[in-house]
Amino acid sequence: MQLHVADHPLIRHKVTVLRDKNTSSPTFRLLVDELVTLLAYEATRHVRVEPREVETPLTTAVGTRIADPVPLIVPILRAGLGMLDGMTRLLPSAEVGFLGLMRDETTLEAITYANRLPDDLTGRQVFLIDPMLATGGSLVAAINYVLQRGATDVTCVCLLAAPEGIENVRSAIGDRADVSVVVACVDSHLNEQGYIVPGLGDAGDRLYGLV
Ligand code: PRP
Ligand code: URA
Repeated sequence: MQLHVADHPLIRHKVTVLRDKNTSSPTFRLLVDELVTLLAYEATRHVRVEPREVETPLTTAVGTRIADPVPLIVPILRAGLGMLDGMTRLLPSAEVGFLGLMRDETTLEAITYANRLPDDLTGRQVFLIDPMLATGGSLVAAINYVLQRGATDVTCVCLLAAPEGIENVRSAIGDRADVSVVVACVDSHLNEQGYIVPGLGDAGDRLYGLV
């Protein structure tokens, strides 16, 4: 599993305003949208493309287009839905599937209540979107769903992640597939209730040798 922490001053600034308990819901939604679009730029760095010729006013130019089969974007309901617009803005030709997962707040295990994915994901690049990677249970369940359908190339886009969850995803996936996790921020740790506790400054980044 590859971890990519999108280390950028604008992203840090927006995450900080997002965390502020005094931030209003409209501003929160706008910030999520902006952050996802910034993360999507990183997350799609290896999107599969193929050559495409176009006629310009002067001559033929050989460029690039998103290859078939087009990528599949899967928001993990419910919170992942808030990230869908930001993601499809950069990948408007992508198909969209849905996975409904909820965390049992006692056992912290992921429970599936909805599943609308294509049966065959062979050769598809899959983007899983969910704002929180806490214990990692939800993300591991979602990754397993798409791997079982034949996907081999999975990119997860999350806003906040706990180190424990990242390690759980890493060990659960092993070398079964090419999985990347793109996050805006790695936080400090999980509390007793399995909630992500923010780091003090760049604690998460230090952990991963980024600063
Ligand atoms: C949250 C979040 C993730 C999950 C993270 O969803 O959106 O899906 O918890 O926790 P985990 O890494 O420990 O599995 P929640 O279950 O609260 O559902 P919701 O999006 O419907 O609120
Ligand atoms: N859901 C949240 O909203 N936060 C967490 O840290 C974990 C699950």
